[in-house]
Amino acid sequence: MQHEPLALYIHWPFCLAKCPYCDFNSHVREHIPQARFAKALRAELAHDAARLGRRKLTSIFFGGGTPSLMAPETVAALIEDARTLFDAAPDMEITLEANPTSVEAGRLHQFRQAGVNRVSLGIQALEDRALAFLGREHSAAQARAALETARSLFPRLTFDLIYARPEQSIAAWRQELATALQLADDHLSLYQLTIEPGTRFEALYRQGAFTLPDSDTAAALYETTAELTQAHGMAAYEVSNYARPGSESQHNLTYWRYGDYLGIGPGAHGRLSFGSALKATRRHRAPEPWAERVEHTGTGQTSEEDLTPHDRAQEMLLMGLRVHEGIHLARFAARTGMTLDNAVDQTILAQALHEGYLIRDDQTLRATAEGRLRLEALLAALVL
Ligand SMILES: C[S@@+](CC[C@H](N)C(=O)[O-])C[C@H]1O[C@@H](n2cnc3c(N)ncnc32)[C@H](O)[C@@H]1O
Ligand code: SF4
Repeated sequence: MQHEPLALYIHWPFCLAKCPYCDFNSHVREHIPQARFAKALRAELAHDAARLGRRKLTSIFFGGGTPSLMAPETVAALIEDARTLFDAAPDMEITLEANPTSVEAGRLHQFRQAGVNRVSLGIQALEDRALAFLGREHSAAQARAALETARSLFPRLTFDLIYARPEQSIAAWRQELATALQLADDHLSLYQLTIEPGTRFEALYRQGAFTLPDSDTAAALYETTAELTQAHGMAAYEVSNYARPGSESQHNLTYWRYGDYLGIGPGAHGRLSFGSALKATRRHRAPEPWAERVEHTGTGQTSEEDLTPHDRAQEMLLMGLRVHEGIHLARFAARTGMTLDNAVDQTILAQALHEGYLIRDDQTLRATAEGRLRLEALLAALVL
């Protein structure tokens, strides 16, 4: 039986400082235990590879946290291990998230030598005031310098910006985005600021320390983003991701197409198929207890759950409607064991098609731009 190809996610859980908006599994340590975590990540990779066999590997993504704080030797060793343990595609995409502080920018050439071929820079804003508000450790000038260095080294480059910030006008965002597009290569991730539970921003927001754009302004900012990126030849291929055709992130497309992925490192998730079973795997979230578990048992995995057809249908709709290409109905049936018509509320589906939130043809179901703006509400009503 032909296995699904595999994407590999590697989580590095450490950062120089905790940004006030961020609820990712990221932690600050006075001394990052480099050697211990390098060893544990390699052990976990070998452990899972033994179980998976030599599957075709299509991408590797070093995410975090701040993986640009990893020792470049660790990045190199993990890439080499992955190439040895799996059947790596010749054009395998290998992305590393990097923060644009000077220390990390200085190490970019070592990451390139390690085999990374795509870098994702966390620029977040191009104005110093906004960067200070976001609690970033770098200036706009440093961000631009890191971008130039990255451009000279890597065949592919993308960066993240956060917009819909307090008091950000449409005119101001237009200007910032126009500058970003001049600096961009062929891919951008543009996120609206969200207030996540448990973050410092949540406490400040509740105290009234700042306000966010109202929903009409947020929608107008989103539309402005679509308009400017499109004029620049980039398509909104996912809710927050923009690329020239052919430059989409292959790794993230695997998630959105509900493909198989192995996640290693603290808190990393996985979706792995074995024959007709599809398993959801989880790892211990806290870094040191994760490492301890790997040291004792070879893996930091804490749970493995068999996903029912219903679970799969729910997840695949959630992922697939985020992307412009939508969901392939034949793949939906093959991956979930359910037809679309059995998985969704027929009345709501008919209504959403009628109101122009969804489009269905013989082969696909996809959300329109209007639909993607209301995806959460739409899915809550649609999925049985
Ligand atoms: C894993 S994080 C960051 C990668 C890297 N550590 C950095 O900070 O540059 C991925 C991206 O999610 C975005 N992000 C995180 N929290 C967010 C929030 N609350 N609202 C909007 N975007 C957010 C940021 O743009 C960030 O770069
Ligand atoms: S945004 Fe990036 S640097 Fe900031 S805390 Fe989150 S993962 Fe770390």
